[in-house]
Amino acid sequence: MRGAAFVNGTIGPLDTAAIPILDHGFMYGEGVYEVLRTYDGEPFLYDPHIARLRRSAAAIHLDLPFDDAALRSWVDRTSEAAGLEGDTYIRILTTRGIGDLSYDVRATPAPSIVIVVKPQPPPDPRLRNDGIAIALVPILRNHPGSVNPMIKSNNLLNNALAMQEAHRRGAEEALMCNYRGELSECSQSNIFLIRGGMALTPRSTAGLLEGITRAFLFQVGQDVGVKVEEATLTPADLDTADEVFITSTTREISPVVRIDDRVIGSGRPGEVTLRLWEAYHRRALEMTSLAGTARKLGRD
Ligand code: PDD
Repeated sequence: MRGAAFVNGTIGPLDTAAIPILDHGFMYGEGVYEVLRTYDGEPFLYDPHIARLRRSAAAIHLDLPFDDAALRSWVDRTSEAAGLEGDTYIRILTTRGIGDLSYDVRATPAPSIVIVVKPQPPPDPRLRNDGIAIALVPILRNHPGSVNPMIKSNNLLNNALAMQEAHRRGAEEALMCNYRGELSECSQSNIFLIRGGMALTPRSTAGLLEGITRAFLFQVGQDVGVKVEEATLTPADLDTADEVFITSTTREISPVVRIDDRVIGSGRPGEVTLRLWEAYHRRALEMTSLAGTARKLGRD
């Protein structure tokens, strides 16, 4: 696998990078992470991702002993070492650290930090032409009083089990309900329905990860005159949706044309979805180009 990894201060090739088995990220799944991507070589929405990493860490009482400037220099150095042409996927993980087998935080004096940089291929043209099928799976999204989905946790068992069920059903993403039977989110993305020209997405209080792309979509909607709102949604709302799409850093905006046996709209990617996707790209490229110019000016 092409790419580079930073592991507690050392940068090397991705496929041989390793972490000690006594790391509590491995032992207990105790840690949090972020996934970012670049456009034209510049990380997109970097600051909101780092702010969410810090919120996730605070939610598990993990003190991060590095400032934003240090983290950025590690991300940049790892990206340089990866030496990849084209856009990259950047995963930043931090865990409780290495120590004896105990839930006592005194066992692990220092958090571990890992940064993975690998290629981010452009979206498959099939997405725009055909859209994807997803499955509404019986696995419930974690109860917010348990492992709160607001925490972008390295403990991804809930998500992995849901996605594996979707794969068994021949679908590419798993949509989950919360414990109240309302739609919450997908295993790796947020969901939006289009009804009457408006984009609706489950409320943050439904128990979900507040996606950075989801938040960005509220701005993109304004660019193209599409109202974007939070709503309490149930599986019955899928039957009356004109269009459906999912959002995430790596999947951007992906049109959904089928949910199990339900065909959405005409069975083709919808017009509003494609308009939002174009606007998303326009804004993303403008923002990363401005950020790149500002950084170059700062360096000169
Ligand atoms: N997944 N919900 C869940 C459970 C997620 O794991 C993700 C992101 C999202 C969308 O968040 P964002 O727009 O900030 O990427 C929603 C990343 C991409 C991943 O785990 O690979």
